Amino acid sequence: MAAVAAVAERRRRAQPGMVLLCLGACLGMTLAVDRSNFKTCDESSFCKRQRSVRPGLSPYRALLDTLQLGPDGLTVHLINEATKVLLVLQLQGLQKNMTRIRIDELEPRRPRYRVPDVLVADPPTARLSVSGRDDNSVELTVAEGPYKVILTAQPFRLDLLEERSLLLSVNARGLLHLEHQRAPRVSFSDKVSVTLRSIWDKIRSLFARQGSKDPAEGGGAQAEDTAGDGDQPQPEETPEKAEPEESGAWEETFKTHSDSKPYGPTSVGLDFSLPGMEHVYGIPEHGDNLRLKVTEGGEPYRLYNLDVFQYELYNPMALYGSVPVLLAHSPQRDLGIFWLNAAETWVDISSNTAGKTLFGKMLDYLQGSGETPQTDVRWMSESGIIDVFLLLGSTVTDVFRQYASLTGTQALPPLFSLGYHQSRWNYRDEADVLDVDQGFDDHNLPCDVIWLDIEHADGKRYFTWDPSRFPQPLTMLDQLAAKRRKLVTIVDPHIKVDSGYRVHEELRNQGLYVKTRDGSDYEGWCWPGSAGYPDFTNPSMRAWWANMFSFDNYEGSAPNLYVWNDMNEPSVFNGPEVTMLKDAQHYGGWEHRDVHNIYGFYVHMATAEGLVLRSGGVERPFVLSRAFFAGSQRFGAVWTGDNAAEWDHLKISIPMCLSLGLVGLSFCGADVGGFFKNPEPELLVRWYQMGAYQPFFRAHAHLDTGRREPWLLATQYHDIIREVLNQRYSLLPFWYTLFYQAHREGVPVMRPLWVQYPQDVTTFSIDDQFLLGDALLVHPVSDAGAHGVQVYLPGQGEVWYDTQSYQKHHGPQTLYLPVTLNSIPVYQRGGSIVPRWMRVRRSSDCMKEDPITLFVALSPQGTAQGELFLDDGHTFNYQTRQEFLLRRFSFSGNTLVSSSADSQGHFETPVWIERVVIIGAGKPAAVVLHTKGSPESRLSFQHDPETSVLTLRKPGVNVASDWSIHLR
Ligand SMILES: *[C@@H]1O[C@H](CO)[C@@H](O)[C@H](O)[C@H]1NC(C)=O
Repeated sequence: MAAVAAVAERRRRAQPGMVLLCLGACLGMTLAVDRSNFKTCDESSFCKRQRSVRPGLSPYRALLDTLQLGPDGLTVHLINEATKVLLVLQLQGLQKNMTRIRIDELEPRRPRYRVPDVLVADPPTARLSVSGRDDNSVELTVAEGPYKVILTAQPFRLDLLEERSLLLSVNARGLLHLEHQRAPRVSFSDKVSVTLRSIWDKIRSLFARQGSKDPAEGGGAQAEDTAGDGDQPQPEETPEKAEPEESGAWEETFKTHSDSKPYGPTSVGLDFSLPGMEHVYGIPEHGDNLRLKVTEGGEPYRLYNLDVFQYELYNPMALYGSVPVLLAHSPQRDLGIFWLNAAETWVDISSNTAGKTLFGKMLDYLQGSGETPQTDVRWMSESGIIDVFLLLGSTVTDVFRQYASLTGTQALPPLFSLGYHQSRWNYRDEADVLDVDQGFDDHNLPCDVIWLDIEHADGKRYFTWDPSRFPQPLTMLDQLAAKRRKLVTIVDPHIKVDSGYRVHEELRNQGLYVKTRDGSDYEGWCWPGSAGYPDFTNPSMRAWWANMFSFDNYEGSAPNLYVWNDMNEPSVFNGPEVTMLKDAQHYGGWEHRDVHNIYGFYVHMATAEGLVLRSGGVERPFVLSRAFFAGSQRFGAVWTGDNAAEWDHLKISIPMCLSLGLVGLSFCGADVGGFFKNPEPELLVRWYQMGAYQPFFRAHAHLDTGRREPWLLATQYHDIIREVLNQRYSLLPFWYTLFYQAHREGVPVMRPLWVQYPQDVTTFSIDDQFLLGDALLVHPVSDAGAHGVQVYLPGQGEVWYDTQSYQKHHGPQTLYLPVTLNSIPVYQRGGSIVPRWMRVRRSSDCMKEDPITLFVALSPQGTAQGELFLDDGHTFNYQTRQEFLLRRFSFSGNTLVSSSADSQGHFETPVWIERVVIIGAGKPAAVVLHTKGSPESRLSFQHDPETSVLTLRKPGVNVASDWSIHLR
């Protein structure tokens, strides 16, 4: 209980409301977020203002006489007929079926933030040409694509067409709303409309700031520019008539926090109509279903990276990370919308079929009377410009590739990181770590990594070790290395304010912390107490941080130590919504408001760079991050944050990770067992079974929970856990290959069924099962006391083999499958080939040169294909020296052929093929192996007529060689 009290104390100091929550949790009451800690759209003044813009005729008109067409696309001015403010629209056709639209003020008082570092390069453009024109519109044709764009001047809208069908319209509902920057409010006496309440607030804030400049005094925007925007032009201060007062436009309070808004209202909003689309996905992170819901009339989905204490499920509240990418799917087509904006963002979804019953829709369809289904999506962000990429498919794989070409693909993880990770807050000391390590060996369980949470550091001073509990970290790391295991330590971005702490001293002296509005170092309350927050948006800060991971700077670290970034939303216990003040100042003079959602991305980036640097660029990093943004896939793994030991949290990990995979972040997992509370054994077992089939597989638990290393379960569960870990480890060659494919092509590792079966409407809303690549279908068990599950096996003409019994089932069908606690249903698709390592050892590093067994599941046509990627498992040599193997296996006409799928790659390896298991095969008379340069040889085999499984023993060929096996 001491620990509980300590946590309660921390929470109390952090946020008074949290004590009650923690006590509730400790007393075993239902966990629930304190919703009042977080804003609704109505409480976020810009969201409320944006949402009050109703659909109808847009006040914007495109001034066609300003239209210019160049190699870099088209620009045209837009005028707001009500305010006469001019905007500039830039439209670019991009290669690969993409269009980019940017809208900014033509003459902003102050430049608006444009998100850097997310795009991997300037996307190559495709030529636009005018192919038609009348008084009110211009038709543009995009070279190298089947698309046309029609720009209508009044009311302003854009329509994207392929042939004669409309794909997508911009501003069709007239919700474009860009709050231009304006003169700050003028003198007191002018403002007759000011309420007494805001006068009081003003006076109070004047006193509170003691002489710091208040926007109400005039001078506003320019006077506040601290660091300056480099070579960006500083607009002239033009006297301007004060705009009518808008609530929260110049200052906003939430609970006890006041957000001074020296630049006034700056929000941007725009709508997109998607004719023919009824199913939309993406915009993580939310604890919600995979398929997005209609939000009109309720709360929009919110994207604002927040440390939500005990988050609630099935609602659109913001969580730790944000990826502003939405995918729309129909049986005919897939589209994506990438809204590149790092400020607080809300997304409203509406649909013209939302209210209709299925029956109503069918009637419409039969009578041909219904409107085409249509989904409308409205994006609203607090600041920045409108910068949006329309990803026009046409297939979902095209959309994945298009998005990957913009923001990069999943980093290829080191092999070990695909193994099992054992974590808790906290392993007490070195002896505890080594006991846990030994526990895996004693119980014959594989494990790759042991994790240390915040208590390992000296007083939460990251990059240090607690001298009494971890006096000899290098010895401990050596002992783990001898077992071929790794250690992960936590390094958070809040730095203890302590003049004796080198990290703090250097950051302070070099001016690398985020600043408050008045230019002093911003301090917030977090785990170490008072803490500074390094300004990771500053490239010098990131370089400094990366350098901290050198073995000299991070004393007690070694090559088998990897890193975990938590609390990087950033979490600030005493800040508004548990995060940083929006008027805090960043590098370049930007406000925290502008960069909030990208802060965690930069922490992740700088840490990953640090791990690359410390090895001289040789070793691939592993860094786990809780906060993320578009592009975070380039830096490593993410997890779904502080979940709970509840069945619903087990269930939600599927749609949460699927949503992340759809927007590029394949390396996703949820804390196995649940972070808060103690799972009953059944839940823990089911969670292991689920986690083993999700990309990032880590058990983790809160400080107040009971210990739950797997062997602490009653002995009747040991074999089940061992079996599940064995399944994970035997599939490592398959996982590794899937990650290589994700890395190469941008396709997700863990996939919703509809990605592979885009025409099968039944799959569109499924989020209790998923696919790994195109080969395995997993239906985890996520209900207490389940005796059976309903599994949907998709695909006309597809067959699915139960991986345990080899029983064959035809798709499409819904199958009732009885289950026991021993396992969960996993099926291999007929037509796929899955490589496995059949001897499970202590860690992946002990297995990486083991022989491979191929599981060939035949389609009804007697065919199958699969790939295998192999390299050294940990360096960049696959990239820099082409040291890798990509093998293709294909079975047809009773012949299995192994060939190279990438002739660039060369890798010497002792790995050989020890067995081939062909599922769905008849009994051959003979089996013959052909290899280049050797006489053909006969293979011994065994055929089981019950299961139709043919096992070929010891082909014995090296995995790098070309060979074929013939069934005669
Ligand atoms: C572009 O779209 C066309 C037709 O819609 C499609 O055939 C083509 O594969 C797409 N190209 C890319 C690179 O996605």
